[in-house]
Amino acid sequence: MCFREDALAERHIVISGGCGAIGLGVVRKLTEHGASVTVNDIIDSKTADTRLRNAGVNLEKTVYVQADLTRTKDVEKLIAKARCRFGPIHTALCHVGIVVPKPLLEFSDDEWTQTMQVNVKTAFLLGKASAQAMLEDDIAGHLIFTISWVADVPWPEIGPYNASKAAMKQLMRSFARELADKGIRANAVAPGIVSVGLAKHQWDTDPSYRARAQKAIPLGEMQPLDSVANAFLFLCSPAADYMTGSVLLVDGGCSLYPMD
Ligand SMILES: NC(=O)c1ccc[n+]([C@@H]2O[C@H](COP(=O)([O-])OP(=O)(O)OC[C@H]3O[C@@H](n4cnc5c(N)ncnc54)[C@H](O)[C@@H]3O)[C@@H](O)[C@H]2O)c1
Repeated sequence: MCFREDALAERHIVISGGCGAIGLGVVRKLTEHGASVTVNDIIDSKTADTRLRNAGVNLEKTVYVQADLTRTKDVEKLIAKARCRFGPIHTALCHVGIVVPKPLLEFSDDEWTQTMQVNVKTAFLLGKASAQAMLEDDIAGHLIFTISWVADVPWPEIGPYNASKAAMKQLMRSFARELADKGIRANAVAPGIVSVGLAKHQWDTDPSYRARAQKAIPLGEMQPLDSVANAFLFLCSPAADYMTGSVLLVDGGCSLYPMD
């Protein structure tokens, strides 16, 4: 991708779930372009450092904060540590997400609650706390939510996940609407079926998923991680400064489904 190496110089970006499969690729891309990144995840610091190092991330450009973002107190801790280490926050990536793959009729109450808490509640708490910090610091900031093409397409056997991503989309649009006059923007990235992380695990372990997914990708192959990272690079850069309330769909045509 043809962005200058200093495209994100002086930018401080916070990411939740940043030690996951996609998060690591995003952190690497952002730091390679000059950003300082506060990386959150729920895992311990030692494991996080190992994952970041193995992913080729320059650790001097990052600080890691272990926190469970379903808890308000942990979100406050994340924001405080982030500002303490790298100063005012310019962009917050509400990125953490989980999927429990099973038919709707087999989904338990607890699984529903967990999906909504980890996907939607963390996005609300981090979006809100980041926007409050941006206002206090007089920063024209940016909230970016990781949703999915399934926010609009009811992909089978992940119903509550589909619903959580649709909720995040509308949450993003609500932040965009309410905060535009305060100079804060909100957008979303909607990846397709990515060749790492949640989808890759299903692809490798569930033959029926694999058969369906193969049919559903018009471009014919699982989505390269770099294509997701590039979408974040663009949205985090000044090139996207006039965007708010938008979904950047980077899904290889998956949302053109059904194919047959
Ligand atoms: N993999 C795909 O194909 C795909 C496609 C579209 C969208 N997405 C979205 O991209 C995001 C990342 O997905 P991934 O595939 O990298 O998943 P992943 O499971 O590899 O990463 C998620 C990370 O979130 C962390 N986490 C879980 N609960 C947390 C909590 N309460 N607080 C803080 N961190 C927590 C996990 O430890 C993990 O490192 C998710 O929002 C997912 O919905 C993924």
